[in-house]
Amino acid sequence: MNMRRVKQIVRAMPVSEGAGVTVHRTIGTPALRHLDPFLMLDHFSSDDPDDYIAGFPDHPHRGFNTFTYMLDGHMLHQDSMGNKGDLRAGGAQWMKAASGVIHSEMPQQTAGMMRGFQLWINLPASAKMSDPAYQEFSPEVFPVVEDDNIQLKILIGDYQGQQGPIKDPYTQVQYFDVTIKDYADFTHALDKELQGFIYVFEGDARIGDTALPEHTFAVLSAGGALKVTAGNEGARLILVAGRPLQEPIVQYGPFVMNTQEEIQQAFTDYREGRLVRNKASFTTA
Ligand code: FE2
Repeated sequence: MNMRRVKQIVRAMPVSEGAGVTVHRTIGTPALRHLDPFLMLDHFSSDDPDDYIAGFPDHPHRGFNTFTYMLDGHMLHQDSMGNKGDLRAGGAQWMKAASGVIHSEMPQQTAGMMRGFQLWINLPASAKMSDPAYQEFSPEVFPVVEDDNIQLKILIGDYQGQQGPIKDPYTQVQYFDVTIKDYADFTHALDKELQGFIYVFEGDARIGDTALPEHTFAVLSAGGALKVTAGNEGARLILVAGRPLQEPIVQYGPFVMNTQEEIQQAFTDYREGRLVRNKASFTTA
């Protein structure tokens, strides 16, 4: 089976989101509209409070999941139905927006580093209007696998027989935070059905002949196993992969459905206060 190579490098685009938070977007930009089943990837990384202090006041979502992984900082998540969750460094939140939620994501710090990723994962047509749910995970619940070359934290899916706490029944997402020691290799047999990407956020690495300096987002080619080699200062990256849904995608801002009519319906529901159909369940681990 072919080794996976770099198919495309996407330069992150600075975008102002929420009430004026600067995020660096890769999936969800003109260079890469979607990477089925992924709809959007934002990286936030700043120690300047002006970049994040405004936060994300009340806003709606419908039709997909969001997964937020905090590397540094502290964020309070709150929805219009009273659910409240604390997102701390090393922790994560899986939010199944599905039929609809309205929530806010507000920083709980006025100084210091705020760093992490938010990924939008599409839902199949059959689950877009199902009940919403929040799941919050503290840093300790994620297994960490270590050997001479790497340290790997399993956020979603499984790795070498170890199960992460989050299972994605629709797109079999795998999401790992991988630290590779200087000049060492990280190899992983990635299922050939999965579409994947990596984002190098510390140090530098390469795949084959393609150099991946710090803050590089790379779409992986189709194939099987992946081999990433770190540079002289080591590398830290997220490796994310999922099974494509191969369904039509119609997106308008925070609503992602299969048809134009469903988008119209989402707007009508939102305007008339019917976007939120069921109270989202809330669980923590
Ligand atoms: Fe949100």
